[in-house]
Amino acid sequence: MKKYEIVNKRVLTPEISQISVYAPLVADKARAGQFIILRVDEEGERIPLTISSARDGLVTVIYQKIGGTTLALDGLNEGDCLHDFVGPLGRPTEVEDLGRVAVLGGGLGCAIALPVARALHQAGNRVDLIGGFKTKDIVILEEEMGQACTDLYICTDDGSYGYHGFVTGKLEELINSGVHYDHVFAIGPLMMMKFACKLTERHNIPTTVSMNPIMIDGTGMCGCCRLNVGGEVKFACVDGPDFDGHQVDFDEVIARNNTYKDFEARSREKHLCRLGGGAMNG
Ligand SMILES: Cc1cc2nc3c(=O)[nH]c(=O)nc-3n(C[C@H](O)[C@H](O)[C@H](O)COP(=O)(O)OP(=O)(O)OC[C@H]3O[C@@H](n4cnc5c(N)ncnc54)[C@H](O)[C@@H]3O)c2cc1C
Ligand code: FES
Repeated sequence: MKKYEIVNKRVLTPEISQISVYAPLVADKARAGQFIILRVDEEGERIPLTISSARDGLVTVIYQKIGGTTLALDGLNEGDCLHDFVGPLGRPTEVEDLGRVAVLGGGLGCAIALPVARALHQAGNRVDLIGGFKTKDIVILEEEMGQACTDLYICTDDGSYGYHGFVTGKLEELINSGVHYDHVFAIGPLMMMKFACKLTERHNIPTTVSMNPIMIDGTGMCGCCRLNVGGEVKFACVDGPDFDGHQVDFDEVIARNNTYKDFEARSREKHLCRLGGGAMNG
């Protein structure tokens, strides 16, 4: 196998794919909650992706085709090599014997929640994994999630599968039915994490969130990923990506994340034009 070769590629939905990359030095050290930064080619931008699993020299990441770089990444196939693949970066999730925990994953966040749930389960915790999707046809990793927890609850916004509603609705239902959680992990869109934290704060449940702000160097040098946590400036790439959700200033992160929206939309359009407009259809 060649350095950073894509050894395996699996299409999970028309918009989400999984690749396993030959990177034995990264695979040896990787732990749940950490991420890599890759470049597709020499001139490409650096993008962070969470390590979904790592073994036998292979690092698996799951990506959503959202803009220029993830579309370019998706243009590669088994046997192609990435230009670089740096990691593991960030602090691993603190995996302790906590008791009964709920792990919430929102959409693609389920790919990031999966290794966290698996590690917590292996550490002896009772893990309720609550995965939310817009509709049934975009549910991913159901089998893998089922194996990584004690009980799996799938939720869909439109009620086409599982619980009808958001992951926060299911969590609230479980809490109201008398389930006591010692800790909650919420991983997904900023709005979902923000509202999960509001709920757990009301019930006094310590909550960890996984923050994904824009990152450039991933080593604490550029300051791009800074967050306000409990009134202090933290860098998600080196101090996180996990933080105490009750201390994160979500409104500030949401505003910062919108800064590059126009530029990203133009980059995506440019890339889709180059591909003849058909990339998102698989
Ligand atoms: C620690 C961390 C872990 C992540 N894990 C995953 C993962 O496992 N799977 C996955 O699909 N995505 C993950 N992301 C988000 C992923 O990095 C972006 O989707 C990707 O950079 C988009 O690039 P693009 O050029 O395709 O799209 P663009 O059009 O450039 O951006 C689309 C959206 O992606 C986000 N984004 C863009 N550039 C960056 C950047 N340099 N850093 C962070 N976010 C960015 C922004 O929210 C933006 O609105 C993670 C982000 C971070 C910070
Ligand atoms: S990405 Fe540059 S400081 Fe975190």
